[in-house]
Amino acid sequence: MTSHIPSFPADFVWGAGSSSYQIEGAVDADGRGPSVWDVFCTRPGAVVGGETGVHACDHYHRYQEDCAIMGRIGLKAYRFSVAWPRIFPDGTGTPNWAGLDFYSRLVDAMLAQGVQPWLTLFHWDMPQALQNRGGWLNRDSVQWFTDYAAAVTSHLADRVGHWMTLNEPQIYINLGHATGVHAPGLKLSMREQLLASHHTLMAHGSAVRAMRTAAKRPVQIGWAPVGRVDYPVTEHPDNVAAARRSTFSVDKPGHWTNTWFADPVIFGHYPEDGLAYYGAAVPRIRSGDMEMMCPPLDFYGLNIYSGAPVRAGPTGQPEAVPHPPGMPLTAFRWPVTPECLYWGPKFIAERYKLPVVVTENGMSNLDWPDVHGHVNDPQRIDFTRRYLLALSRAVAEGVPVQGYFHWSLLDNFEWAEGYKERFGLVHVDYATQKRTLKASAHWYARVIATGGASLVDGAVGATTVPKDAVVVN
Ligand code: FCB
Repeated sequence: MTSHIPSFPADFVWGAGSSSYQIEGAVDADGRGPSVWDVFCTRPGAVVGGETGVHACDHYHRYQEDCAIMGRIGLKAYRFSVAWPRIFPDGTGTPNWAGLDFYSRLVDAMLAQGVQPWLTLFHWDMPQALQNRGGWLNRDSVQWFTDYAAAVTSHLADRVGHWMTLNEPQIYINLGHATGVHAPGLKLSMREQLLASHHTLMAHGSAVRAMRTAAKRPVQIGWAPVGRVDYPVTEHPDNVAAARRSTFSVDKPGHWTNTWFADPVIFGHYPEDGLAYYGAAVPRIRSGDMEMMCPPLDFYGLNIYSGAPVRAGPTGQPEAVPHPPGMPLTAFRWPVTPECLYWGPKFIAERYKLPVVVTENGMSNLDWPDVHGHVNDPQRIDFTRRYLLALSRAVAEGVPVQGYFHWSLLDNFEWAEGYKERFGLVHVDYATQKRTLKASAHWYARVIATGGASLVDGAVGATTVPKDAVVVN
């Protein structure tokens, strides 16, 4: 366990996150059109138990209660996404006023609680009408996304100061377009996968430019990719160099790479090793494409859940080190590796020279209300404590980390896993829609209120369960 005193700047952004399809429900309300996820969920076998986002957390109707919960936890910020098919039900044309109005009311309710809105434009729910025209495979997707981004920005930028374009392009390209386990459920050739990826990066860049104009005031714009974090198995400089090298290489299947996506967005070119790795599958790059991808950003969002240990081999080359048997795992069977929240932000900030915001981090856990109605989730508290201590080391060493968003505020619809994975600080009983703050929500409230100082309470040298790991109210 890290033993330094955690230090976070006074203006550190303590947040939690969610996304539209995972919580909103109300899929037919106020003129919303179908998204690729609505359609994908109807495919037999696509989602565990045949579950869907039709009701989810019914956040669309309960957003005021949910914003009050944010206030109770003392969140400084809340990251949410806009459902594109609420704004453009048919994909193009005139924006749907009722859809824009919902997000306007949501933003007002957040601000009334003293919570800053952080808005993601694309968290995977593309209008099905656009998918029917080829989705990201169609070069017109660049303009579709730009028009959507401009419409939302011009409506909300008077109150929303922080914006993200894309959430995890690595995942929707891989799971949505290569393996088919996420919407739109395609299994395309590598050439087509890379074409969809090329267009989505162009859409990002084009949207950023349109948003700066539409905002009519300076706003902070970033994005929220995921990517692999390989961390050194020990802090020997050779291992550190090897971990950095493999974190920034393109040498594995599955689009599990930082640089193929981020080098174009930040530097305006694809990485050399990626061009060699993909070879003939790289799409034709037209003049102006790369320049379009890289307008300046204000921050680099990072979704980080786990990392993999790496050491330097005999010639210094990175070698994966297997996790030991019996490794701590979350309910999703993801390894618990707090180191990634030190090394990930550090490596990314060094390479891309932008302030970093951890836009997602958290864990799924087997939570249920006990006989008293309390939800005790000591594993989530321990996980988050360890990860935040690792992050605080990065902060203490001068890595420019501006904020941390816990995934997630509420238990929600976990894509192809349906409702079986619970990531929330707040338990949701889907039958009654009752919300219950878990012990971790109370614990996180205290972390926020103390600016991170309470992270060491009961942790260093503790021989018993920390007193804040159980609900006492
Ligand atoms: C990320 C997604 C988010 C959620 C978490 C657990 O990949 O961005 O929507 O599913 O994983």
